[in-house]
Amino acid sequence: MKLIGPFRQVITLANLPLRGKLSDEQIDIITDGGILINNDKIQQVGNFEILKSQDPTVEIETVEDVQIVLPAFVDSHTHICFGGNRANDFAMRNAGKTYLEIAESGGGIWSSVQHTRNASEEELLKTLLERIDFLISLGITTIEVKSGYGLDVENELKMLRTVKKAREQTKATLVPTCLSAHLKPRDFEGNNEEYLQYILVEILPKVKEENLAKRVDIFIEKSAFQPEESRAFLLETKKLGFDITVHADQFTPGSSRIAVEVGAKSADHLEATADEDIEFLAQSETVATALPGASLGLGEKFTPARKLLDAGAVLAIASDWNPGSAPMGNLITQASVLATFEKLTTAEVLAGITFRSAFALGLEDRGKLQKGLKADFITFKTDNFQNILYQQGSLKTADVYIDGVKRIE
Ligand code: NIG
Ligand code: FE
Repeated sequence: MKLIGPFRQVITLANLPLRGKLSDEQIDIITDGGILINNDKIQQVGNFEILKSQDPTVEIETVEDVQIVLPAFVDSHTHICFGGNRANDFAMRNAGKTYLEIAESGGGIWSSVQHTRNASEEELLKTLLERIDFLISLGITTIEVKSGYGLDVENELKMLRTVKKAREQTKATLVPTCLSAHLKPRDFEGNNEEYLQYILVEILPKVKEENLAKRVDIFIEKSAFQPEESRAFLLETKKLGFDITVHADQFTPGSSRIAVEVGAKSADHLEATADEDIEFLAQSETVATALPGASLGLGEKFTPARKLLDAGAVLAIASDWNPGSAPMGNLITQASVLATFEKLTTAEVLAGITFRSAFALGLEDRGKLQKGLKADFITFKTDNFQNILYQQGSLKTADVYIDGVKRIE
């Protein structure tokens, strides 16, 4: 057992519900608190002095300075395994060039596929680990990572094997997802349905065999995969035993409905979701994930997070960090900005980047400071937790604890 503290404020998020809107009055604040750790799990959270007096012999890890503590963040949607960059796409888009013009000049997702295919496993691993370190420095200790820039057996497996190697080299939890259905690659001889069949027959069995991912994603959009072929594909992946997540309603509405109908864990993007589909999502178990980094990267509207929460949805917020649409990677800045535009409470944002995003990944063992949960938590040198979102990402974490152990940089 180890007692860590004292903290000026402990924000447990423990009593907050999984779905729907939240008011800031619902946030429990323990002042002058401590966290008692048993190995890698939280044993008890409460007043520091009381916890200390319960067991005068307990090992104490004293916290210097005024600090606050809350559960570590969870980024449930990233594409951080990639080669090259797309700064030129960003510049061209801002100079008024269209999607087609950018693609014709060698940009777009296809250019990241070529760079990723050309990158060695060592290069991919190195840059992936650097991005993971950046996310950990923001207080994110659980990170989903998608494939989707390989788009053939060899390169999709290369990406997922790289994520597997990274898992061995980081203390953060990495959750891999197979996104071979990102786009039909230009060099595939056949139509969309044939490519989806190729994923089912050639890629997913190997992913399973090597235990590289338990989740499958697809980009349903006019420029990628069409609704009915996607539905059939997802039902097949389900039969193979994969969990499902969907890139839904980014530009065209309708695909979040498919996500719900096939029982997806989450439907992500939703910038274009129609009002009746918001209701449909809100009635379901499928988490609605806002990706403000993509709105900021593309200059598009934000996901209707306010409406989703008011309708009772489980709203998660993730970074979508990728070389094209969301190059920033700073989830805290993005979530803070989403809050200003969508009028989200601090409680709703914090829930969206902790236990609600953990739920989207099927992880119910984290995201709150509560007995029995994983001892991943983060501290900030400040006397009030409101400062985290107020400073829109510029207030840096002081310490990041993973499994109860402070990370030394
Ligand atoms: O989530 N929308 C599709 N896929 C990514 C973009 C990937 C890319 O542009 O490289 C996204 O925004
Ligand atoms: Fe994405």
